[in-house]
Amino acid sequence: MERAAEEGWYTDDELALLARVTELATGSTDEGVVVEVGVYRGRSARVLDRHRNGRQLHLFDNLDMTTADTKQWPDGDGVYHHLADPVEEEFVKPIALFHQDADHSFRAVLEHLEWMGPHVVKGGVIVLHDFGDPTYPGVARAWEMYTENKDFKFIDCAGHCAAFQRIK
Ligand SMILES: C[S@@+](CC[C@H](N)C(=O)[O-])C[C@H]1O[C@@H](n2cnc3c(N)ncnc32)[C@H](O)[C@@H]1O
Repeated sequence: MERAAEEGWYTDDELALLARVTELATGSTDEGVVVEVGVYRGRSARVLDRHRNGRQLHLFDNLDMTTADTKQWPDGDGVYHHLADPVEEEFVKPIALFHQDADHSFRAVLEHLEWMGPHVVKGGVIVLHDFGDPTYPGVARAWEMYTENKDFKFIDCAGHCAAFQRIK
């Protein structure tokens, strides 16, 4: 647990999935930024940065975890740091890929999906971490509630990371 907190919780298999679906999202869409909510020390953000194909990368973290470290976040051209919850900042842009790895409660995941989901363009991808993890049942429950009557298809999962693509 100590090592995880130092480096982040994403496993290598989960990072490989994140890389693959970021390529898919940016290759399947003509527009849209890449957004991550829950950056911590930048482990998954560095993967998004390497695979964003020139799209802007918006990184959100409200620093609720006091051991988060923004100095380890990617910081190149087209990368924007937001030390806030995107809902509170009222962030609105077309989105090619939305990655949620922040507060895993049902309420917080649903709130992020309801805020960011409508801006995900056709062909865009939503990635949820800790999906299917029995410790965080609210993640899958929020996804089921959010996607009722919406057009997303399951792409793949690795570990406790699941990816879905908007098809209409
Ligand atoms: C599990 S860590 C993220 C791990 C990171 N994705 C990685 O690869 O290591 C969760 C992060 O989400 C942040 N957080 C929690 N609730 C949040 C919220 N409502 N909005 C933005 N960030 C939040 C915490 O401060 C923490 O840094």
